[in-house]
Amino acid sequence: MAVESTADKTKPRQATIQLRDLPRPPIHSAVGFAAFWADPEFARKQFDVRGDRMVVDLPLLPTMLFTAVPEDAKAVFTQVDSGLRLGEALRRLAPHEMLFGREMIDWWNGANHAKLRKKVAPAFNGAALRGYEEAMVDAAKRRVDEWPVGEPVRFTRQMKTLARDVIMSVVFGVTEGDRRDRLEQALIDLDRAIASNGMRTRYVAAILSGGRWPRYTAMREISARIDAVTLEEIAFRRANPSPVQRKDCLAIFLELAEDDPENLLSDQMIAVFQRMLLIAGYETTAVTLAWVAERLVRHPEVMATLDQSLAAGADDYLDAVITETMRIRPALPVTMRYAEKDVDINGLRVPKGTIVMLYINAIQKREEFYPNPDEFDPDRFLGVRPDPHRWLPFGGGAHRCLAANFAMFESRVLLRTILTHRRLLPDAGAGERQDQHRNILLTPHRGATVTLAHR
Ligand code: HEM
Repeated sequence: MAVESTADKTKPRQATIQLRDLPRPPIHSAVGFAAFWADPEFARKQFDVRGDRMVVDLPLLPTMLFTAVPEDAKAVFTQVDSGLRLGEALRRLAPHEMLFGREMIDWWNGANHAKLRKKVAPAFNGAALRGYEEAMVDAAKRRVDEWPVGEPVRFTRQMKTLARDVIMSVVFGVTEGDRRDRLEQALIDLDRAIASNGMRTRYVAAILSGGRWPRYTAMREISARIDAVTLEEIAFRRANPSPVQRKDCLAIFLELAEDDPENLLSDQMIAVFQRMLLIAGYETTAVTLAWVAERLVRHPEVMATLDQSLAAGADDYLDAVITETMRIRPALPVTMRYAEKDVDINGLRVPKGTIVMLYINAIQKREEFYPNPDEFDPDRFLGVRPDPHRWLPFGGGAHRCLAANFAMFESRVLLRTILTHRRLLPDAGAGERQDQHRNILLTPHRGATVTLAHR
């Protein structure tokens, strides 16, 4: 398989540039920043107008460097212990501390991060993935029958339910009975709490106070309910060993915990970690699948090629469709790192306290790497492995999405199953906008409205 090459245009820069030398977008207040943040295409255009690096420096907010330079991404991802911290950036600018708790932020920032990643890696790769396939297919088949046919549906909603089913059965390994009902209800409540005014107010307070998150009792109570289900499931499995090997992440974590001299995987840690996987994993996947449908209905020629290749039993074109969708409609517009000390990034001096924003939504739409960047063209990735610094929907380096292979596998299996049972009818209307209202995810602004038909 060919690999996109990193061309000379992106050679590391030699001269040391200071932040003060860089342009600033026309943002004059925190409210202006919120508007900039909420409109990823406006932000992207600012790079076209002002250059490929910009600084946002406002009272009450940390100084932010926005970059659309793939070599900057490379420098950030490849520096080992560079003093660039994901956890601290998330604490200051994203709701992760509220959602995952202090333990997870500390894990992201701390020494155990690499160790635990290595330890749990078997659950997200290779043979483990194949073991999850049946549960993924079953989940999709069950839900497909419930979806209305012949009338417009908001596909994002359907994909959220489906991705949640997958996380519950494949990650948590909770498939039936009271525990399953309680977990599902807790996840629905979690979704509501994330969208609530209570959350929004605390989010603003935390950002403006440099990352000090006010207490949110409702969120803690929901997290405790989710963790209780995991701990009960663990106790149940220990008391009732299964005659057949279970195929889910929890089973693998428990197996790994048996040989764990450093106690990385205590029961409590497994519970917190699974909650983190849930939150990190289900909406990102759902949004990606929704965008695939949104793009496909507007490109009947792509849909026709995809139908033919699936009918022939091939997945390579489907993979190219997913990869191209993640380029042109990334679930997350940006990934970030907090500079714990002064650092040099590709010739740029970044002072301590700056947040480096790798602007995925602009990097992946650079004309020189992706000709006609706004055109949806899966052929770009047919038989081509994407360059990791120009295609980075999963971030990169030490924090690259732990479950990137899992997410690609899941997307492939779910889409293949859905498209085997239903057709997506073409839609000649305008494409949906990338919308960033509720949280950091970029969702289709009309919820990926599509019409399904029977095969
Ligand atoms: C299409 C779906 C997904 C997308 C687009 C996505 C994207 C990302 C991104 C951008 C990051 C941050 C990487 C960085 O800053 O370098 C990340 C981290 C992470 N993701 Fe995903 N993700 C997806 C699915 C999942 C799933 C299904 C799971 C779990 C089952 C998951 C678990 C994680 C975890 C644990 C991290 C933190 C990794 C670390 O800091 O070591 N993600 N993801």
